[in-house]
Formats: sequence, structure tokens, C-alpha cells
Amino acid sequence: MLRLENLHAHYGKSHILQGVNLRIEDGEAVALLGRNGVGKTTTLRTIMGLTPPSGGAITFANVRLDQIPAYKIAGLGLGYVPQGRRIFSSLNVFDNLCLGLPGTPDAARLDEIFEHFPVLKERLNQEGGTLSGGEQQMLAIARCLIMQPKLLLLDEPTEGIMPKLVATLRNEIRAANKKGISILLVEQNFRIALALCTRVYIMEKGVISYEGTANELRKNPDIAHRYLGVAIS
Ligand SMILES: Nc1ncnc2c1ncn2[C@@H]1O[C@H](COP(=O)(O)OP(=O)(O)OP(=O)(O)O)[C@@H](O)[C@H]1O
Ligand SMILES: [Mg+2]
Repeated sequence: MLRLENLHAHYGKSHILQGVNLRIEDGEAVALLGRNGVGKTTTLRTIMGLTPPSGGAITFANVRLDQIPAYKIAGLGLGYVPQGRRIFSSLNVFDNLCLGLPGTPDAARLDEIFEHFPVLKERLNQEGGTLSGGEQQMLAIARCLIMQPKLLLLDEPTEGIMPKLVATLRNEIRAANKKGISILLVEQNFRIALALCTRVYIMEKGVISYEGTANELRKNPDIAHRYLGVAIS
């Protein structure tokens, strides 16, 4: 469904993405891991058309995303939850949720969201900025899900979130994937990435240096240690 081929991106003279190759099949959950500053966020921004690629191809459902304007990309069925959330702090929860929709969502769509994120229903009139970090992250994810995407791009959704809510977020991301939404998950939390994803890419300095299955990584802890400097037990 999504294919990145020899993708390059620059910020000014800095050559950030240096030939990224990655693919996601229909319904798959795939993790993109790597140390700080290697280009993970840039990869997601490039897919969404927010950072224009300087070479290579991005294909989604047979459409070349790198050849269409950014504002058309979300409409093709891509949902993007940026790093650090990005909800509107002075808008209430309901208005934040409906921001991307052409009108008011029908009750069934709202109910489905509230079934998964009951805390948002309780706080519909509360200003976004007064939600806890974890609740804001849920709102950011719910805002994408209400648009019924085919592919969800998540940039470090559990960063800075208290452990109790991390489990909730993980369960809801899994539930979305079980409903058929494909996932590209950028994560520092290696355990969560392995729990949610069947395949993993590891990025180093703007290229993919390792590609394998979550099972392979579980069986070979030395790989995670070598590429990411993390230990899994
Ligand atoms: N707008 C920008 N202008 C110039 N350089 C940038 C810009 N955004 C990011 N960079 C640089 O590009 C490189 C890759 O950044 P990116 O945010 O993609 O990394 P990342 O893998 O997401 O890191 P992290 O794990 O810390 O979020 C970094 O060296 C960063 O400083
Ligand atoms: Mg990042």
C-alpha cells in the first residue's frame, strides 16, 4: 500500500534522507526505529508532503504522493499524528476531534471513537490544553481515526506519557490495526514497537540499515543492542 523508493530529503544543504527504502502492505503494522536525529520524523513528514523529497518516489495505493500537492495527501486516506501531539489547546475536545471533517460527524462515528477513548467523551467541552499529556495524545490519535484513514503514521506516540496511559494507547493502536488500518509507528519504546508490529525497520543516518521481523529481533537481542543501544529482556 505504501512504498518508499530511494527517498532523499534535504533541509537546506543538510542531506537528511539518503535513499530510504521501505514498504507497508495492506493491514500491516510496521515500526521505524532509530536513534535520535537519524531522520525518522523527516521520513513521515516527507510522506505527508510537509517536507518535499529531493529524490526518489513515494507511492500510496498506486498514487505518487511526491507528485501531488500536500493538501491532497490526507484525503487519500493517510492520517498523521506528529511527534509531540499538536492539538489546539484553546479549542475544546469536540472541536479538536472534528477539525479535519467537512461537517459534524454522525453519531455512529463519534460513538465508535468514544468506545475506544471514553475519557474524551467525559471531557468533550474541556479545552484541549488542559488535558493531561496522555489524554492529548489520545485526542490527537482519535482526531485521525475519525477521518477513517487507511494508513496511520504515528510519531513517538508514547513519548513522555505516564505508564498507565501507555498501555491504553498501545491497546487502542492495536485495535485500530485489527480493524484493518495499516500502521507506520516511529517509537523509542522498543517493547511497544515489538508488541504492536510484525516488521521493523531500523534507520541510521538517513538510510535503513536493518530490516526484519519482530520475531527475529526478539530472538536476537544483539541486533537491537548493536543498532539502537537498547537491551531487551
Ligand atoms: N526544519 C529543520 N531544519 C533543519 N534541520 C532539521 C529540521 N528538522 C530536522 N532537522 C535535522 O534533521 C535531522 C533528522 O531529524 P529528524 O527530526 O527527522 O530525526 P528523528 O529521527 O525524528 O529524531 P528524534 O528521535 O530525536 O525525534 C536532525 O539532524 C535534525 O536536526
Ligand atoms: Mg523525531
